Amino acid sequence: MSITLLSPDPQITRQLGYRLGTLLQPGDLICLQGDLGAGKTTFVQGVAAGWGAIDEVSSPTFVLVNRYRRADGAALHHLDTYRLASLPEAEELDLDSMLAQGALLIEWADRIVPILPQDRLWLHLEYQDETSRRITLTAQGGRSLALLAQMTP
Ligand SMILES: Nc1ncnc2c1ncn2[C@@H]1O[C@H](COP(=O)(O)OP(=O)(O)OP(=O)(O)O)[C@@H](O)[C@H]1O
Ligand SMILES: [Mg+2]
Repeated sequence: MSITLLSPDPQITRQLGYRLGTLLQPGDLICLQGDLGAGKTTFVQGVAAGWGAIDEVSSPTFVLVNRYRRADGAALHHLDTYRLASLPEAEELDLDSMLAQGALLIEWADRIVPILPQDRLWLHLEYQDETSRRITLTAQGGRSLALLAQMTP
């Protein structure tokens, strides 16, 4: 099941992320797809804010994993597989441990599909014009379907 939304500016993309952030629980996996500059990190900024992160979101293209803490000790992990050389390298990441500490957001998740847990919410961001993006959310599993239902306007 999927829904498609149009985001007319970056702030709306952040607000959409914020809403998802308020819903996230440990074990939730959010997969982000979209070209360079599509808005994946912009969306994650909103998610981290909605989730209650005390750390600021940075673009993880230069590091593989960013970790944002919350006052209660939970941690949101933000992974960018863009710089991963290979799938075996991805296999060395301990996704299960990241998922146990909080939710996990993965940019360019389509590159590491074979090592991902089955239940995941996909977000596909597509460039429309300078300020707008088409955002398609697709649920793949029971938990992601519940999240999608709560995201539906
Ligand atoms: N509606 C929109 N939603 C999100 N970002 C937008 C929108 N309109 C314009 N932008 C701009 O597009 C850029 C998106 O950059 P961002 O770093 O979020 O992309 P990304 O998908 O993470 O790219 P990369 O693959 O390089 O990590 C930002 O400069 C943002 O301000
Ligand atoms: Mg990015």
